[in-house]
Amino acid sequence: MGETAQERGLSHVTQCYVIPKSDRPSLNPETADVPIVDLMGFGDSSSQRSTIVKDIGNACRYYGFFQIINHGIDQFVLDGALSSAFDFFNLPPQEKAKFMSNDVHKPVRSGTSLKDGVDKIQFWRVFLKHYAHPLEDWVKSWPENPPTYREQTGRYAVEVRTLALEIMGAITESLGLGAKYLDDEMEKGMQVMAVNCYPPCPKPGLALGLPSHSDYSCLTVNLQSTTGLEILEREDGKWKAVPELKGALQVHVGDHVEVLSNGMYKSLVHRATLNRERTRISIASLHSLGMDEKMKTAKELVDEEHPKGYKESSFRDFLNFLAKNDISEGKGFIETL
Ligand code: SIN
Ligand code: FE2
Repeated sequence: MGETAQERGLSHVTQCYVIPKSDRPSLNPETADVPIVDLMGFGDSSSQRSTIVKDIGNACRYYGFFQIINHGIDQFVLDGALSSAFDFFNLPPQEKAKFMSNDVHKPVRSGTSLKDGVDKIQFWRVFLKHYAHPLEDWVKSWPENPPTYREQTGRYAVEVRTLALEIMGAITESLGLGAKYLDDEMEKGMQVMAVNCYPPCPKPGLALGLPSHSDYSCLTVNLQSTTGLEILEREDGKWKAVPELKGALQVHVGDHVEVLSNGMYKSLVHRATLNRERTRISIASLHSLGMDEKMKTAKELVDEEHPKGYKESSFRDFLNFLAKNDISEGKGFIETL
């Protein structure tokens, strides 16, 4: 694995990046009319909280996605994480190469596309993935360069995890399971951060940053420097662009909430598109149960009318599946019964 095509500064899209016609993104996609949830008052035991819980439940049920505002993470923390990521991807290739690996079991690794040398089609992306919880266990294995990386990304990691666990409580509450239903498991759970860099692409209609997939998590909180995220609208089966909302974070329902909810809340199918002008950074923070903890469908949500629809599985099952199969984004890993 050497330099990526993007790093060599290719001014055209070579064949290995050109995706089949049916999957190519529109240069003028429709805008997704997706919910915005205002979290002001979320922490209070007030009527405001119950409105927010309802809004989150509806967003999960009908879209599998929402943007959050007034989420309590300061803009300078968001900017710090994004600028550390930019600086990391601007390092000389040999510095980034230290982390390059196709081994999906590695807690810290970087790469290009999905599986280098294996995929027929390459995606226009460079990434760094690392575990993040408990921070003190992992931060020492994160990049030392840029010197701000550990502190700034670490600070964001801790804040976004606290927020994600609160949202998870709202999700279980909205399912009628109570806000603390998964508290203990989530407390011991995993946080994986996927830090993605999508360089400018001269022909953004021919390539993709990330193909269609759902996230193998309970939920994912995404921070992006600019737009590029597209979601598959369920109503009409069209790809639509998530509108830019300064300071907002995006929340995706992951596969594990689909299993937990017995399919009441379906995981979000999404992809990353490219643009000609700017490098785009996204930091997806994936939150799930512990490595060997199997996610099961809540028995409270199973009855004669709604028989159990999913097999249980753990994060390790997912990684083992990835190691054996030629995809590394987990599309379609959850198994229905
Ligand atoms: C992105 O916004 O770049 C996509 C992140 C993801 O796949 O979760
Ligand atoms: Fe994703």
